[in-house]
Amino acid sequence: MVKISTSLFTIEKKELVKAVKAASNTNYFHIDVTDGEFVKDAKGGASLFYNESHIKIIKSNSTVPLDVHLMIANPLDNIERYAKFYPHYISFHIEAAQDPLAVIKKIKLHGVKPAIALNPDTPLSMVEDLLKSVDMVLLMSVVPGKGGQGYIPQVTGKIRQLRKMIDEQGLDTLIEVDGGIKLDNIYLPINACVDIVVSGTGIYAPSGHEPTDDYKDLTPKEVIEKMKDILALGSDHGGYKLKESLKKYFDKKGVSYKDFGCYNEESVDYPDYADKAVKEILRKEYNRGVLICGTGIGISIRANRYKGIRAAKCNSVFDAEMSRKHNDANILVLGGRTTSLPSAKKIFDKWYTTEFEGGRHQRRVDKLDGMVTY
Ligand code: RB5
Repeated sequence: MVKISTSLFTIEKKELVKAVKAASNTNYFHIDVTDGEFVKDAKGGASLFYNESHIKIIKSNSTVPLDVHLMIANPLDNIERYAKFYPHYISFHIEAAQDPLAVIKKIKLHGVKPAIALNPDTPLSMVEDLLKSVDMVLLMSVVPGKGGQGYIPQVTGKIRQLRKMIDEQGLDTLIEVDGGIKLDNIYLPINACVDIVVSGTGIYAPSGHEPTDDYKDLTPKEVIEKMKDILALGSDHGGYKLKESLKKYFDKKGVSYKDFGCYNEESVDYPDYADKAVKEILRKEYNRGVLICGTGIGISIRANRYKGIRAAKCNSVFDAEMSRKHNDANILVLGGRTTSLPSAKKIFDKWYTTEFEGGRHQRRVDKLDGMVTY
């Protein structure tokens, strides 16, 4: 599941308690530590911005784990200062570390997971040999230090490249991305297979500012929920081509997804790929999904064996509309060999945007998962 790490960088100390409580459904709080040296124009000038008193406020008002990001010139000598708060991660900048392995060792000695951060211009070759020694790599998608900058689009390609590097080394190192990510562009890093997304001004207005139009009618909790609205995709070989084409369509439309396979046209068994996506939905890691096999029939039969799954095989836009309005279908099923791409797009659009009507349909939907006797 993609996790959200909420950055409190632009929140004034006096507003921290309110901010922390307002985003209690976040997976992590991202703590940016600046020293006025590594990051010259950082808020807080020459002193550490997130000093101990800030972190104490956060810790005493929330149980959400901390994700500490040291944007400082001398990480080695400052690890204890942050490790004593038992964060989940401590990341340090490769550009700032004389001896990265010594920093990693020190972080691990404190029982904290180490991560390496890279500025947007720093090449991945700088960390290739260190991937096996860290739990996570943090890719900056803005120049560090200032809140509210725009996401640098080239970082999407960098995420894909890093994912390939990690896979080639057979590792499970996570990728985090930080900078300029909001509701309207979060699909870019998610669809490139990032694991953790940092967002600050995409969730809260900076202290003293009004929320932007992107989220002015939403609470921070609602923004985080929307950020986690990611489709779980699955197909067998018969649905692979249509799934690949739909992924391109989702990339254009700004729809977030995670592909649970298959990943090529080699013959596989459709129940296995229904299972992969369905389990993620039942674990509530993903809200909804799209499954595709040759006809859509086999994969929908398998998906519907699970209580709580309502997989609707739709052949038309009308089917898609009704599957949402009346059946609250949480999985759209398509036939890779029976549905053309243009009609699959139309069917998807209707299914994705139509709300369940509730009312008498809720009673019927409740009965779907009821006991069956014969
Ligand atoms: C695979 O050849 C095919 O049987 C499968 O994709 C699907 O159509 C099953 O219902």
